[in-house]
Amino acid sequence: MTKILMVCLGNICRSPLAEGILKSKLPSPSFFIDSAGTSGFHSGSSPDPRSIAVAKKNSIDISQQKSRPFRAYDLEEFDHIFVMDNANLHDVLRHVQNEEEEQKVKLILDYPNAKVKEVPDPYYGGKDGFNYVFNMLEDACRYHSAQLTKK
Ligand code: 4NP
Repeated sequence: MTKILMVCLGNICRSPLAEGILKSKLPSPSFFIDSAGTSGFHSGSSPDPRSIAVAKKNSIDISQQKSRPFRAYDLEEFDHIFVMDNANLHDVLRHVQNEEEEQKVKLILDYPNAKVKEVPDPYYGGKDGFNYVFNMLEDACRYHSAQLTKK
């Protein structure tokens, strides 16, 4: 089984969407997909209602997810860790203990022809920001799911 972790700051806006989108593309039980936040601010909370809504509009149900903090053990446990922005990257890499763990961690938009390199935090913006984030995560997950099922 390949284990994939999506990481953002709060684990209520971006990484729950990334988790839901990738799950919709990769079959369980071959893949286990989870998400976490580098801050524990929203631990135990459901995703932001705006993330739930944009996912639902695209036939993906993320309403049952619960926020949890990223922990150093995730670097051992997971095969791939996709982060949303450079701040997440920095926060996760602080916990890395060896090269194998370091190589697991990547910006989710680090793939050929991506238009931007970071997924912006939509928390303080409006609904348009969530549509924008959904679309960029959809493109990224399409690329990564193809790569992950290639072997
Ligand atoms: P996320 O968005 O990292 O995509 O879940 C955020 C949600 C909440 C906060 C920051 C970012 N906050 O500061 O409360």
